[in-house]
Amino acid sequence: MSLPTLQQEVSLNSWIRQFHRWVSIAFTVAVIINLVAMFAQQQALWIGLLALFPLILLLLTGLYLFALPYLAPRRIPQGSTPASQM
Ligand code: HEM
Repeated sequence: MSLPTLQQEVSLNSWIRQFHRWVSIAFTVAVIINLVAMFAQQQALWIGLLALFPLILLLLTGLYLFALPYLAPRRIPQGSTPASQM
């Protein structure tokens, strides 16, 4: 199997960034629902899971985004400054 091209890698990274961005909206809505449920004294497992599931997705994609600048130098030609050192 061949390595992904630089263009494929960049579009995967941008897809993951957009995914992280949209899941953050879902997470925010879920937190608001949790707060409303808490004040209404309504307790249910599914309300908690509503926030936990997007949070797990945010954690995984966020750690990937965090690691990107440290993984990038492999691709950068000699003599230029890697993003992680700017
Ligand atoms: C759970 C652990 C999380 C980790 C490890 C994480 C990590 C990251 C990282 C490393 C970036 C890229 C920063 C950059 O390149 O400048 C990022 C961007 C972002 N994060 Fe998170 N994040 C997490 C959770 C969240 C949560 C809870 C929210 C909001 C509810 C959120 C919203 C965003 C947004 C809106 C961006 C900008 C996306 C873009 O560039 O369009 N993240 N996050």
